[in-house]
Parts: sequence; structure tokens; C-alpha cells
Amino acid sequence: MTQIEDTSREMRIDPESFAGGYFRNAVYRHWDPYEDIPQSLLEQDRQRLIESDIGHEQFEAFRASVAKFGAGEEAVTEDLAPLMLVFDDIDDQMFISSQIYEEAKHTQFFDRYWREVVNPVAEAKGWEVTSPTDQRYFPEGYVELFDRTEEAMHRLLEDGEDTPTNRAKAFCHYHLVVESVLAQTGYWGLQATFSEGPPENWNETEGDDVYLDGLIEGITRIRSDEGRHVGFGMHKVQRLVAEEGVDPDVVQQTLAELLPLVSETVQTDFDTDSDPTPLVEYAQEKLSKRIEIITNAEAELPPVEELVKIEGADDHAAAGDD
Ligand SMILES: [Fe+2]
Ligand SMILES: [Fe+2]
Repeated sequence: MTQIEDTSREMRIDPESFAGGYFRNAVYRHWDPYEDIPQSLLEQDRQRLIESDIGHEQFEAFRASVAKFGAGEEAVTEDLAPLMLVFDDIDDQMFISSQIYEEAKHTQFFDRYWREVVNPVAEAKGWEVTSPTDQRYFPEGYVELFDRTEEAMHRLLEDGEDTPTNRAKAFCHYHLVVESVLAQTGYWGLQATFSEGPPENWNETEGDDVYLDGLIEGITRIRSDEGRHVGFGMHKVQRLVAEEGVDPDVVQQTLAELLPLVSETVQTDFDTDSDPTPLVEYAQEKLSKRIEIITNAEAELPPVEELVKIEGADDHAAAGDD
């Protein structure tokens, strides 16, 4: 509801609110997808791939994961819209508007990467040039996960369906499973495969020695944004459980229903010659820590500054000190 007249408050916004602090962090951490990821870095990625001895099968796996990220970011840009309509609080609305904008930037990055790196490399190698929307890139589990997320978000707009429990389910689908587990795991995997100095526990495989600095720069910035998005979702679920009487089992159950779909997606991403076990372990470990926090009313969320820092990666992009 638009509140032109409102006697319940003195000022329009509350900068001290949780969402207000997150909005401020989003503004402070703003990055420009055109300027901050320079053309020269993408040209370098293209050149390195062309000159590398990457095989066709490995390239297929690589572009399949780029396609999944692109489609995923596009889907979540749209699927956030119902929240904008159901939130009453201007601070929440302001934060969600920053998140929609950020998801749009993420979509733009992957589209650009396909045009400027993926297709020219395929062409130079004499391989088929494909479209990032080609159905071959989307396994059943992936499609199912995004369909269910869309349904959980859009349900909030239906008559009588905007209940605390349905909101908790929506946040579990979108912020906890898609953004937290699926995206963060996938990004971590790409980072481990294509950046110098892979994180510990990653089973480095022979031939994975192409360093794609443009891709890494983009996903480092995206992961940082995602850290903030996930923090917002965790906070919302925690409050719904602590204050609105949502049964914590709803959280556990929703996550349990969706996790097999994540495993299916992650495994098909990296199954050419690397072992996906560390990825899946990483996902589960992250999620169990998060469930502990959100189902405990007293537990404190890490501060947003910590959530936007990227572990296991060069921090300079996320730290905003460039
Ligand atoms: Fe995103
Ligand atoms: Fe996000």
C-alpha cells in the first residue's frame, strides 16, 4: 500500500532498521558492470581459452555452467518482484529494489560473457556456437528447482496466501537454497577451477590450468552481493520463526525437499573430470550453519560487512578498496 499520509512515523525511512543498514551497504558496495569489469579482462579470458588446450568436453561443461548461472540470475531478477509488492515497510522495499537491480547486473554480466568470450572461443576452436538458452544446458533438477522457486514467490500474490509460513517458504526457496546453496556453491566451484591458487580441499585436476581473470572478477563481485542477499533472507526467516510463530520444521522440511535438486545440478556441472564431493560438502556445511542460526531466535547473524566478504578469493573487489 502506498502511504502518502502516514501518522505512524515521523520520518519516511528508518536508517537504523535492519533493512536500512543493508540498503546502505548495497549503495556503498555498488559496482559498475561496464567499468569495473573492463573489456580488456574479457579479451584476455578469450585469448587464454583460445590458446589453451581445453578439450571440447571440458569446454561444454564450462559453458553449461555459465549458461546455468545466466539463466538463474535472469530468473531470480524476475522472481523477486512479488516481495516488492507484499512488503509494507519502505526500508524493506528499498532493500529489495537494490537487490532487484543487483540481480539485473548479474544477468547482464553472464550475457556479456557469452557474447564476448564463450561464442568467440567456440568459433575459434571450430566448435558449434550455441545459445545460452539452449535447453541442453538445463538438467531436470535445475528446471524443477527454479519452477518451484517461482511458484513459492508468486504464491504470495494470491488471495489469502501471503501468510508468515508461506513467506518463510518463499525465503527458503529463493534466499536460502537458490542464492545461498546453489549459487554460492557453483560460484565457489568456478572460482576454484579458474583462478590461481585454488582453495584448500579442492581436487585440482590436470588440464585445469586456464586462469580466467575476467570471469573471476565478475563472480567475485556477484558473490559479494549474494552474501548480502542471503543475510537479508536469513534475517527474515529468523524473525518469522521467532516472532510470527512459523514452525522451524517448515524451514527444515523445505530445505530437505530442495537439496536433492541442488545436488543434481551441481553434479552435472562439474562431472567431466573433477570430483564434485568437496562442492557438495561445502554446500551442506554452509547450509547447516545457516539453519542453526535462523531457527534460533537468540542467534546473531554475522554483520553484513562480513557477509559481503568473499572467502577463498582475492578480496579486493569485495572490499571495495580498489
Ligand atoms: Fe544474483
Ligand atoms: Fe542474489
